[in-house]
Amino acid sequence: MVHVIYYNTASLEIHEMTQITLGIESSCDETGIALYQTERGLLAHALHTQVAMHSEYGGVVPELASRDHVRRIIPLVRQVLHEADVSLNQIDAIAYTQGPGLGGALLVGASAANALAYALDIPSIGIHHLEGHLLSPLLSDPAPEFPFVALLVSGGHTQLMRVDGVGQYTLLGETLDDAAGEAFDKSAKLLGLGYPGGPALAQLAATGRTGQYKLPRPMLHSGDLDFSFSGLKTAVLTLTKQSDDEKQTRADIACAVQEAIVDVLAHKARAALAQTGLNQLVVAGGVGANQLLRNRLNEDIGKRGGTVFYPDLQFCTDNGAMIAFAGALRLAQQQGRKDYRFNVKPRWNLAEIIETN
Ligand code: KG4
Ligand code: ZN
Repeated sequence: MVHVIYYNTASLEIHEMTQITLGIESSCDETGIALYQTERGLLAHALHTQVAMHSEYGGVVPELASRDHVRRIIPLVRQVLHEADVSLNQIDAIAYTQGPGLGGALLVGASAANALAYALDIPSIGIHHLEGHLLSPLLSDPAPEFPFVALLVSGGHTQLMRVDGVGQYTLLGETLDDAAGEAFDKSAKLLGLGYPGGPALAQLAATGRTGQYKLPRPMLHSGDLDFSFSGLKTAVLTLTKQSDDEKQTRADIACAVQEAIVDVLAHKARAALAQTGLNQLVVAGGVGANQLLRNRLNEDIGKRGGTVFYPDLQFCTDNGAMIAFAGALRLAQQQGRKDYRFNVKPRWNLAEIIETN
């Protein structure tokens, strides 16, 4: 079948016959599978989270993660096909997370995607995990329009990007050490909370009293858009050592940690909008699920006439929908490949995908 595609970046409209992309996410501890159709949007998506399996160990065990992806991918592909009432031979392309992430876990998704694409004689498309996060708010209604500023806050990354279109990303600032998610996770661990730490710390903070403890806001006034969170972790370590182990004390500390991280993120996001002269902020990545961050950004940026866009909560953390969607956009740019020689990139800077465009 010949597909004619008219792709308009500004309005993000993709007009063509009908094109279905299967997305496979397996970069860490979540197996996410989804089907995205250019005309109708998301047809179905399914997620298996390995949180319960890894929680026994207090963090992700890479080998166990890989083995679990092996077990989950095919049943979840079957599940989404069934839910969407789509057959394998109706799929036009398969997108998979090529990196960054855990090497073994990425290899499982890449192998499954390329084997399936080869068998079906359709293109496979390697997607940068952060590009998936970055574009995920476009799945929601209302969606932002290009250009916008994106605050990417995941477990491994904290970046501010200017986004002018699909593949047109300019790095404005990033963390020099720990990511915001890592700061949540490490502080949670120091407070004796389980994995994943971010949601657990936020929950404990809900019973905490604001202002009981003052923690540093690293690089708040550095004058640039970079971040640093490792000093915060050290301060939390000192504070937890000096404090008693009462529930209320721990809740007060959790509250202070959350306040400090949210303060820095909100301050820098505001500065990024001021610097670029843009008025739309997109928040993507797991930390974007944090309610205090959402409230603060809505208030701060709303006051200045700006708008903040978030992915649906279910698409904040890792998922297959964002990979299927990014794949569909890349397919529209003719970026699918049929050579099936895949590699994965456990460490992969988003700036590199701009250079290869
Ligand atoms: O994007 P994501 O699911 O995975 C990565 O690509 O890293 O982000 C996971 C991170 C973890 O650090 C987790 O603790 C954090 O997002 N997170 C949160 C919340 N939900 C997830 N941090 C703060 N508050 C939350 N509600
Ligand atoms: Zn992620």
